[in-house]
Amino acid sequence: MCGIVGYTGFQSAQPIIMEGLKRLEYRGYDSAGICTVYNGITEIRRREGKLSNLAESLNKEPLSGKIGIGHTRWATHGRPSETNAHPHQAGSVVLVHNGIIENYPLLKKTLIEYGHTFKSDTDTEVIAHLIEHWMKQGDDFEAAVRHTLKEVRGAYALCILCSDEPEMMIAAKQGSPLVVGIGKGEYFVASDIPAILQQTRWMVFLEDGEMVVLTNGEATFSSLAGGILDKEPHHIDWSPLMAEKNGFRHFMLKEIFEQPTSIRDTLAGRLLEEEGDVYLENLNLPDEELQGFSRICIVACGTSWHAGLVGKFLLERYCRIPVEVDIASEFRYRNPMVDCDTLVLLISQSGETADTLAALREAHRQGASCIAICNVIGSSIPRESDGVIYTHAGPEIGVASTKAFVTQLVAMYLLTIRLGRVRCSITREQACTIIEELVRLPGLVEQTLKLDGAVEQLARRFQHVRDFLFLGRGDSYPIALEGALKLKELSYIHAEGYPAGEMKHGPIALIDEKMPVVVLALRDRHYEKVVSNMEEVISRGGQVIALCSKGDAEQFSRATAVIEMPQDAGITSPVLLSIPMQLLAYHISVLRGSDVDQPRNLAKSVTVE
Ligand code: AGP
Repeated sequence: MCGIVGYTGFQSAQPIIMEGLKRLEYRGYDSAGICTVYNGITEIRRREGKLSNLAESLNKEPLSGKIGIGHTRWATHGRPSETNAHPHQAGSVVLVHNGIIENYPLLKKTLIEYGHTFKSDTDTEVIAHLIEHWMKQGDDFEAAVRHTLKEVRGAYALCILCSDEPEMMIAAKQGSPLVVGIGKGEYFVASDIPAILQQTRWMVFLEDGEMVVLTNGEATFSSLAGGILDKEPHHIDWSPLMAEKNGFRHFMLKEIFEQPTSIRDTLAGRLLEEEGDVYLENLNLPDEELQGFSRICIVACGTSWHAGLVGKFLLERYCRIPVEVDIASEFRYRNPMVDCDTLVLLISQSGETADTLAALREAHRQGASCIAICNVIGSSIPRESDGVIYTHAGPEIGVASTKAFVTQLVAMYLLTIRLGRVRCSITREQACTIIEELVRLPGLVEQTLKLDGAVEQLARRFQHVRDFLFLGRGDSYPIALEGALKLKELSYIHAEGYPAGEMKHGPIALIDEKMPVVVLALRDRHYEKVVSNMEEVISRGGQVIALCSKGDAEQFSRATAVIEMPQDAGITSPVLLSIPMQLLAYHISVLRGSDVDQPRNLAKSVTVE
């Protein structure tokens, strides 16, 4: 997620903006920039890389002016570079943006036809040109902003300046957070509270479809349609550290609750609901090549490997193409049997995992085509791949992957639709059904997050056990593996995930009253079999924690504990099942006093073998 800071008042803008951007660094970024207006002149400074690069430039040549905007960029469209860094300018208009403009390709095409020249590859620059366009049509600055925001589709938090109105700053919100700090004769704008908390504790939170015009010591809040709004400031009594976590106790919990937004952002601009298809902007493989592959190899590590297992079920079921899923550290040394007819799919949140990067290079050496599913724009694995599907989960600070995992699954659904349509293995109607489920998914996740209290109670009962077993069948099996990995990497409790059908082949010998067994028992095609596996455990004195479909709880009265999913889903069930798995691991770990955001011995990105 990008970071925005704006200031207008009686102080010099630069130091306040830079301090604010520094307090947003935890969100992750790849470039930064600032603009101030002084004597009617806008001056912009941008640097790729760390904020210190920008600060070094400003130390040599500071910017003057008491009004300005700043930005730290987490690239979504356009690789990390100074040219793509914000602020972006068009004529007298300069702005910074957080979000994704879904219809920017068409808007950009139209503006180019009107004679506009673009400098960057970003979606953001389109907004600046559109405001400039409306001002050329006779709108004043504010009217041009309103006109523009009626035309753009997608998510935005914007802070906008115009040298024609050097005393005015406009901020607007739709889908991305934006807060307005109220000072004494001065105003602050930020993506997040930490950026301006040291300046003021009085904050107004803009809602979707709202904007504010800050000028001459006044703040006028209004709806996009123009109606004036009376917005009540809130007093924020958080500490700066609490503010970075948006009030959550840990980054991991914040990221678990960000998952609906991450899914929405990963879907944004990609669902072609009318056509029953998807638009994958960086896939870079022509349809005839996608049609020609005879098999797929999915290669990853850890949680990303679990996402690959879900992908296998999807791709084999809907695309009828053989899929194998491999651990990267094994694949890279096995002289794998891949060739020009193989599509190798590398899944990686960080894009820097050494084994996965080595697997990519080995696959290329053997002549395979490689696509990455990755969360970090411009990282090594997507850079060296032939195509990429970026997840837009935003920076994931917690070492244990949560929102990146569910957006990897979303990317797998998108790829399944694309491949299924191009290989004619699914009809338009079948694709539309999957798309409808994806559109519902953020809301279903929001409902499932309401399990948090019940799962925390469960965690209290099982926080002292030494071993856990997680069982699932079909596409719940990878989620059983993921539940076990989450628990072991966070709480240091030994935990195993297993195919429920494998119980008789060994694990059933482990069953006793001391080892809880989590059974993923949704009403899918494996239901009866899973219920009988559960009975095998209970009849041997084992404690079962059953995760069941909505309305099914009374079927599990013999279980020690039941978590009833609040919403049922079809193809997207693995995403929903992940939520209680994440919450159970989180709460048990907190109760056991683990360092949840940075568990012992673990790194967020394993860049060494
Ligand atoms: C996930 O909770 C773990 N932290 C770990 O297994 C991680 O998924 C693995 O290291 C792969 O990382 P990547 O997705 O960045 O390649």
